[in-house]
Order: sequence, then structure tokens, then C-alpha cells
Amino acid sequence: MRVVSGIQPTGNLHLGNYLGAIRQWVAMQDEVAAGGGDCLFFLADLHALTQPVVPAELANATVEMAAALIACGIDPARSILFNQARVPAHSELAWILNGTARMGWLSRMTQWKDKAGKDGSSQSVGYFGYPVLQAADVLLYKATHVPVGEDQKQHLELARDIATKFNLDFGVDLFPLPEPLISKAAPRIMSLRDGSAKMSKSDPSDLSRINLTDSDELIAQKFRKAKTDAEPLPEQVAGLAERAEARNLVTIYAALADRSVDSVLSEFAGQGFGSFKPALADLAISVLGPIRERLTQLLDDRTAVADALIDGAARATTLAAPTLLATQRAIGLQV
Ligand code: TYM
Repeated sequence: MRVVSGIQPTGNLHLGNYLGAIRQWVAMQDEVAAGGGDCLFFLADLHALTQPVVPAELANATVEMAAALIACGIDPARSILFNQARVPAHSELAWILNGTARMGWLSRMTQWKDKAGKDGSSQSVGYFGYPVLQAADVLLYKATHVPVGEDQKQHLELARDIATKFNLDFGVDLFPLPEPLISKAAPRIMSLRDGSAKMSKSDPSDLSRINLTDSDELIAQKFRKAKTDAEPLPEQVAGLAERAEARNLVTIYAALADRSVDSVLSEFAGQGFGSFKPALADLAISVLGPIRERLTQLLDDRTAVADALIDGAARATTLAAPTLLATQRAIGLQV
């Protein structure tokens, strides 16, 4: 097994990232290490360039996000943890795959359509081509499994299309098709203010998300202010069907407690949010508090985190080299 996944080093790590992706990364790390495979997790700093950047903040944000991943349980000794920009093969493969990807495929990406909306011409070329770099990220390591939130599924399907077309066009069997691994418990955590929008780093309202750096008081306050309805919790999952905000909070509870939604409902059925929200806040604080403490300690020694990234990049470069060479040969850039 070769597991590869990334996260953009912009904003704070939030509960959506944690439950949707990072917890899976940590679980895979244990499983894959036992079976002799590799896990590669990276900070997608090149992807961050597709939106306006503040140069003085990017490198810091990358180290802070790496520290947050370590605090969540990613072990730089067992997993290969690095930042994308330090492995130039990502950019080179992305450029080569730009020759394979089709404009029509990229135009159909939901993320592009949402953001570009009516004003696509003011977006960067990089933002349009973003999923090609993402395909390069996973194909470079011949990833077999890619643990991501549901919002990234379409990008992974595109990576599979690019791999298939490249193999076919050049008559090679170079890129295996990567499988997206989407968390069953928390495929899509929604905003605390709007049950129809995903929890996101870019939401202007900080009340919409729980950041892994939030204090216990702030976590409790955000859940207290979370949008809900006046009905008590139902006995069955079906009773949450038309109640997006209520469903989201129960999903968060179940994922944090590692329990099924059914079992959470059987405990809280008939109770209102006046009692459910404090229970949820207590649970979140018990899970996130220790992560925040580890993060604070790690940030006392940023150099150690930065060094771990340099070491990870060296290991990633070694794994990337044979695939890049084989790709260059397949298209005639090298003999
Ligand atoms: P990013 O940085 O937006 O998010 C990192 C991971 O967190 C997941 N996620 C969520 N899961 C559930 N609910 C949510 N509300 C939520 N918000 C975010 C994302 O699905 C993702 O798994 N393009 C990617 C980074 C990337 C990448 C890659 C991922 C670059 N190259 C190669 C996988 C493989 C991104 O912007 O994720």
C-alpha cells in the first residue's frame, strides 16, 4: 500500500479537516506501517499559490500546519511528512500532465465552478489547473490509497482519468489508479452556522468552524451559538433527514466519540439542544484539548518541525525519482 494525501497550509486546521481527513491519515499510518507500505503526507504549499499569498506568512503557516498534523498523531518517523514545494518533481510532473488533462475535464470541476462562478477570468491560471497538480501529487508516488474528505472525491476521479489517458496515449502501464478513501463517519462536516455549507477555512465567520487551536471556552461558545432548530433529537437517523444543522451536530458527536449515529441518538432521543450542545462541547474539548496542548509544545521548537520537513522531503524525493524518470522516458524527454 502507498498512501498519499495533502492539506493546504492556509488558515487553521479545523474540525472538518480533522474528522474528514487527518484522523484517517493517523489510522492509515498504523495500518500501513504494520504491512510494510509507505504513508506520505504533505503540506500543499504550491496549491496555496493559486490564491493571493502573503509571502512572509506562507513559510510560517507551513511549519504551523505541519506541527498541527504531528499534534494530531502523524509521526514523522513512520510517515513521510514534507512540504510539496521542496520536492520539485511535483511541479515537473504537473507540467507534463498538463499535456494530458483536457480543458473540458477541468471546467467541470465543482470547486472551479463554485469559485469561478460568473467571474472565472479573474482567477489565476493556477487555480484552474489546480487539480492537475493534485493528480501529479498522487501519481508521482504511484499512490494506491488517498484518504480525503468527500469534497476532494471529484479531484481524485480526475487524477484517475489523467492516469488512464496517459497510460493509454503512451502505451505504458505506469500509473496505477488511486482509490479515494472517504471517511464513513465524517465525509463532510458542515458549517456550524449553515448546514448547507461545508466547514471551511475560508468561511469569513470564525463561528462557523471549530479550529484545533480554539480554547475550551471558545469551543463551548461556538457550539452554544451553533445554528439548530427547536425540535428534540429523534430516535432514528431518518428523523434528521430534513434537519441539516441537527444532523451535522449529531454526526460530529458520533465521529468524535467513535460511535454510530444510531447509538448517539438512542442516548439523546427526546432531549433538546439545551442538553445536547453542552455534552457535545465537553466531548470536543476532551478530544481537542490534548491536541492543542501538544501543538503549543511543538511550536516552542519550530526548528525541530522545520527539520522534520526537510528530512521528509529527502525521503519523498527518493521515492519520486523513478516515477518521474519513467514519465520523462515515456514521453520522450529522456532516453
Ligand atoms: P484542504 O486543504 O481543503 O483540506 C484538507 C483535507 O480535509 C478535508 N476536508 C474536509 N473533510 C470533511 N469535512 C469538511 N468540512 C472538510 N474540509 C476539508 C479535505 O477533503 C482534505 O482531505 N486540494 C486539497 C489538498 C491536496 C490534496 C492533494 C489532497 C493537494 N494535493 C493530493 C489529496 C491528494 C485541499 O485543498 O484540501
